Amino acid sequence: MFSTPFVLSFSLLLSLPILFFFLSPHILPPRHSIPIPLDDELDDLALFHRAVSQASSSSNPNNPSKHFHLSSFKKPKLKIAFLFLTNSDLHFAPLWDRFFQGIATNLYNIYVHSDPAMNVTRPTTGVFQGRFIPAKRTYRASPTLISATRRLLATALLDDPANAYFAVLSQYCIPLRSFQFVYRALFVSPTFDLTSVESDPEASRLGVRLRYRSFIEILSDQPKLWKRYIARGRFAMKPEVQFDQFRVGSQFFTLTRQHALLVIQDRTLWGKFKLPCYRDDECYPEEHYFPTLLSMTDPDGCTKYTLTRVNWTGTVNGHPYTYHPPEISPELIYQLRLSNYSESYLFARKFTPDCLEPLMRIAKSALFKD
Ligand SMILES: *[C@@H]1O[C@H](CO)[C@@H](O)[C@H](O)[C@H]1NC(C)=O
Ligand SMILES: *[C@@H]1O[C@H](CO)[C@@H](O)[C@H](O)[C@H]1NC(C)=O
Ligand SMILES: *[C@@H]1O[C@H](CO)[C@@H](O)[C@H](O)[C@H]1NC(C)=O
Repeated sequence: MFSTPFVLSFSLLLSLPILFFFLSPHILPPRHSIPIPLDDELDDLALFHRAVSQASSSSNPNNPSKHFHLSSFKKPKLKIAFLFLTNSDLHFAPLWDRFFQGIATNLYNIYVHSDPAMNVTRPTTGVFQGRFIPAKRTYRASPTLISATRRLLATALLDDPANAYFAVLSQYCIPLRSFQFVYRALFVSPTFDLTSVESDPEASRLGVRLRYRSFIEILSDQPKLWKRYIARGRFAMKPEVQFDQFRVGSQFFTLTRQHALLVIQDRTLWGKFKLPCYRDDECYPEEHYFPTLLSMTDPDGCTKYTLTRVNWTGTVNGHPYTYHPPEISPELIYQLRLSNYSESYLFARKFTPDCLEPLMRIAKSALFKD
């Protein structure tokens, strides 16, 4: 008859589903921490690979990232890539149309990643027309938001070697300044970054910009950091990410081309941050992945603050304060611009969709007036 080892392994096999049945409520991840589908992961890897190999093959004199110094600015060729991550209509499209009105298209590009399951209306006119990239499903507080951001970065890297800064925004973001102000702030102004005196004293003494850093918030002294660190299990992040290397920051950042490339090349940290969380309430991987990665690889290349103003006073359920139409005024805009780290915030969130009309009314007189 059957040999003993066979019977033993057979009964073990049978008992597995039973064991699983009893254990599953504890060992299965929470329902909406859906793992990233393998096909999506493979598609992304292929995209990132194309972007990285193009970047290395174009390490030639025409690659602006290699010419990231003063002489480039005589010929205004460097572009800002505006990356919109959305799961609903682009409510403020008319405001962004106004922001880009009259601006030469050799100064910027726009890319939109919109959740394909959400029936987002694609504008048929204006700056967003034809700018939607191949997208995949996204879920709040899940690694799918990291994937979507990396997809935007890779697509923009591949699309145009002149893209030199990559600004991540959402449908709830508005501009607080004119395009000219934003462009000057990122590429030209030696005084915009108030922290550059410490980071580059020689350059500030001479009144020139020599280095281009990423504007990304990187914080380490936040009260919930430990809970966030162990959200995937006590030892889940080790050994790649020790607790003292774990950081938090806004997912709305502006990266240099060099850092955009670094982010899409990463496999190590992604392998950790894509793991599902055990606790839903402390799982915001998109707020940790980018600051942790950049803080571990090039801390001096980052300003450690964001250019997107957000109001966390009276936060509800992980959402920041959302402004409503009666609050919109030039005074609010002036207040939102004030930063401790730079001459001005450039963008702000969040605003309800019906803020569009009052914002359009003050666009010329306040928002885009420098
Ligand atoms: C999108 O549209 C389809 C077809 O009209 C509908 O079945 C689906 O429920 C819609 N999805 C959302 C999220 O509105
Ligand atoms: C931030 O939100 C609070 C309400 O939570 C509000 O009272 C305050 O005025 C807001 N701050 C700014 C600068 O808008
Ligand atoms: C700037 O710093 C002061 C003092 O720490 C703080 O009270 C204020 O809220 C900060 N302003 C902004 C816009 O973060």
